[in-house]
Amino acid sequence: ENKKLLAPSILSADFSKLGKQIKIAENAGADIIHLDVMDGRYVPNITFGMPIIEKIRPLTKLPFDAHLMIVEPEKYVADFIKAGVDMISFHMDATIHSHRLVEKIKSLGAKAGVVLNPATPVNTLEEIIYYVDYVLIMSVNPGFGGQKFIPQTLLKVKKLKNLMETTGRTDILIEMDGGINKDNINKISREGVNIFVAGSAVFKGNIEENIKTLKENMKI
Ligand code: DX5
Ligand code: ZN
Repeated sequence: ENKKLLAPSILSADFSKLGKQIKIAENAGADIIHLDVMDGRYVPNITFGMPIIEKIRPLTKLPFDAHLMIVEPEKYVADFIKAGVDMISFHMDATIHSHRLVEKIKSLGAKAGVVLNPATPVNTLEEIIYYVDYVLIMSVNPGFGGQKFIPQTLLKVKKLKNLMETTGRTDILIEMDGGINKDNINKISREGVNIFVAGSAVFKGNIEENIKTLKENMKI
């Protein structure tokens, strides 16, 4: 797939003006809203859950992409979809039955994705790849916004593309998340990433200008 989509993460937004900032992002050309859900158990930080998502859902037409950094995600996916989420990704080591969970997410009408931490090898996808809609490659350790891009994680994109070829799943979208900014997004795009998550690079400073620059630079 040659799709290139920018997914601002509201983790770095000003939560006192969340609705307003989402609208600014939408008007500036954001393609997806990325929602970082953290439980203080899978990652050492806590963010937000369904009540917030439900409240912001009517404010934008953009698809919502929930990145679940929580243990036992299977317990909550139905509630997230009810709250208005269109895509859900989870970390495979946060659940016992990954295949069952992917099937559950899809049966509830959402797109299903799995997430690789920086130290998780691409070959852990060898079986689940037949079932997922997208793969999220973390380019920082999950838990916080504003961290530095880990360059080695970019090598995984090529490995994933190879696996997609050999399994006939070239339709899968590749998402990358963490430390993406206007200076490295072009290089990441050239490797074949489709969905670019950006938190601080979007919400710190002028949101509109930031989005325009990122979208310009992600073109190859
Ligand atoms: C980290 C989150 C990221 C993060 C990205 O756990 O998954 O989505 O918010 O933020 P930046 O773009 O600031 O690295
Ligand atoms: Zn994320």
